[in-house]
Amino acid sequence: LAPKALAGKRLLITAGPTRESIDPVRYISNESSGKMGYAIAKVALEMGADVTLVSGPTSIKAPEGVRLIPVVSTQEMFDAVMDNKEVDVIIKAAAPADYRPAQMSLEKIKKKDSSMQIEMVKNPDILKTLGEIKTNQLLVGFAAETQNLKAYALGKLNEKNLDFIVANNVAEKGAGFDGDTNIVTIYDRNGTETAYDCLEKEQVAKIVLDRVVQKLSV
Ligand code: PMT
Repeated sequence: LAPKALAGKRLLITAGPTRESIDPVRYISNESSGKMGYAIAKVALEMGADVTLVSGPTSIKAPEGVRLIPVVSTQEMFDAVMDNKEVDVIIKAAAPADYRPAQMSLEKIKKKDSSMQIEMVKNPDILKTLGEIKTNQLLVGFAAETQNLKAYALGKLNEKNLDFIVANNVAEKGAGFDGDTNIVTIYDRNGTETAYDCLEKEQVAKIVLDRVVQKLSV
């Protein structure tokens, strides 16, 4: 039997949204279901990898055999990723909230007569931090955009020091958040651009991981 393509490789994958608490019963989050990241974890496992999955709150079950680290906030995801970053490949399919409320109220906030304001502060950028400290590691990001897909994705590829970035126009039907399919274009550090049709998220996972295998073997 031929060895599996990712046998002996350690992969760290992130998936899902994060939640940023406003008070004990309210939070700010986004539409990520975790499906994209979980599909990558499943296919990576089938390809023989040792898989750690850092996941925000989702309703899907982690594939059997994956080491699951559940987190809630972006700061928790940051800490979990930093604690587990000694791997061969990191793939960041999660959608971490970029901002959090400056203060979390310990009591439920009471209704006010008129409007209310929530001051937000910036969360750490996990992928950017990984890009700054990476040495001999493959770093793969996603870019969720609603406009200027190419320019913004290339900006993130460079700014976060990635090996390649998987860009999805999340405003497009069949792409992005929550559904079972995605429409992606991969921008590679080597200058290539590869666009794909609408595919099941598992097929997108296979494409992403085949590129990882290709890059690990050069
Ligand atoms: O989970 P699903 O419902 O299946 O949806 C899939 C998806 C749309 C969430 C996925 O395909 C996707 O695009 N994930 C990236 C979402 C995102 O946060 O994109 P971004 O362009 O804002 O961030 C760029 C990259 O930086 C991402 O790899 C992200 O994980 C990372 N990031 C972002 C913010 C932050 N504070 N830290 C990060 O590491």
